[in-house]
Amino acid sequence: MNPELFQHYPFPNKLPCDLGRYRLESVLGEGGMGIVFRGHEVGAGAVRFSVAIKVIRFELLAGSPALAADVIREARLAAELNHPNIVRTQYVGEDHGIPYIVSELLRSEGAGLAGRPSDCGERAAFSHASKIY
Ligand SMILES: Nc1ncnc2c1ncn2[C@@H]1O[C@H](COP(=O)(O)OP(=O)(O)O)[C@@H](O)[C@H]1O
Ligand SMILES: [Mg+2]
Repeated sequence: MNPELFQHYPFPNKLPCDLGRYRLESVLGEGGMGIVFRGHEVGAGAVRFSVAIKVIRFELLAGSPALAADVIREARLAAELNHPNIVRTQYVGEDHGIPYIVSELLRSEGAGLAGRPSDCGERAAFSHASKIY
C-alpha cells in the first residue's frame, strides 16, 4: 500500500481538508464504493460553486493496489456520458494514490438520493431507467 494514503486520505473527522484541486467541506452521503463530500475547487482559476466529490473508501483502496487505476478508467468512461438522467462527471483526479470523481452537486429533499428508487416504486424506476440509453 502507498504509505501516503493514510496521511492524505480525507476522513470525515478531518474536515475541511484538501484533496488534489478540491477543498472538501462536509459529507453528503456514503455508498458501497465511496464517501461523497461537498466541496469546491481551490487554487488559481478555480470556480467557486459547490460540487460533489466521491472518494473511494479507504479500506477498499488500501486492500487492492489495482483499484485506483480501475476506478479512474471507469470514471473517465462515465465522464463521456451526457444525458439528462445521468449525473454529469466534471473531473476525474488522483492525489497521493487517492482517486476522486467530481460531479455536479444534486440537491434533494426528504429521504435524499438514496431514498429515491424505493420511493418511486419498481414501475416508475423501470420507466426512468428505460429512458437512459
Ligand atoms: N452528485 C451528488 N450530489 C449530492 N449527493 C450525492 C451525489 N453523489 C452522491 N451523493 C450522496 O452520496 C451517497 C452515495 O453515493 P453513491 O454514488 O451511491 O456512492 P457509491 O458509488 O459508493 O455507491 C448518495 O446516496 C447521496 O446521498
Ligand atoms: Mg451507491
